Amino acid sequence: MTEHVEWVLSVTYLWLKAGHVIFVIFWMAGLFMLPRLFVYHQECAADSPDNALWIQREQRLLKIIMWPSLVVAWVLGLMIAWQMGYFGQGWFHVKLAAVLALSAYQVWLANYAQALARGERRWSGKMLRIVNEVPGLAAAVIVIMVVVRPF
Ligand code: HEM
Repeated sequence: MTEHVEWVLSVTYLWLKAGHVIFVIFWMAGLFMLPRLFVYHQECAADSPDNALWIQREQRLLKIIMWPSLVVAWVLGLMIAWQMGYFGQGWFHVKLAAVLALSAYQVWLANYAQALARGERRWSGKMLRIVNEVPGLAAAVIVIMVVVRPF
């Protein structure tokens, strides 16, 4: 009986982890893509027909890919953490901090998209390209924490 329960738990763990990584990939793809769209968007005038198209592309990416992937990656990640009892472990705290930063970054991006839709161009293209390093750095920290577990 206990062997059976252990088997079920270990298979569930692997499926949850596979699902987690799949949605993390979708989420990260959006985080890398959206600031690039901002750079192209900002190159067209606020009253041009292209402007409306860029607004639509940004809103769709956020609504169809980025928000749902963020939620699913969080839910599956927290389910694994709960199942495996990771909440007290140092590497997991660092990972959580990096993932919270990524989630805050997405809120910032969504606000920036709204400002762009109102015709504001708050940051230069160069600044947006620099900001685009944030998800890469966070991903490096996250993967090292989860794979190497240095703490
Ligand atoms: C959204 C909140 C997140 C939570 C709560 C979370 C939590 C977790 C947990 C508990 C595991 C299982 C670790 C293990 O048993 O070895 C895991 C695996 C993993 N996570 Fe996350 N994670 C989140 C976001 C992310 C993000 C944003 C990335 C990538 C940038 C990521 C990349 C990975 C990878 C690659 C694995 C598989 C590691 C392995 O197979 O050993 N996670 N995550």
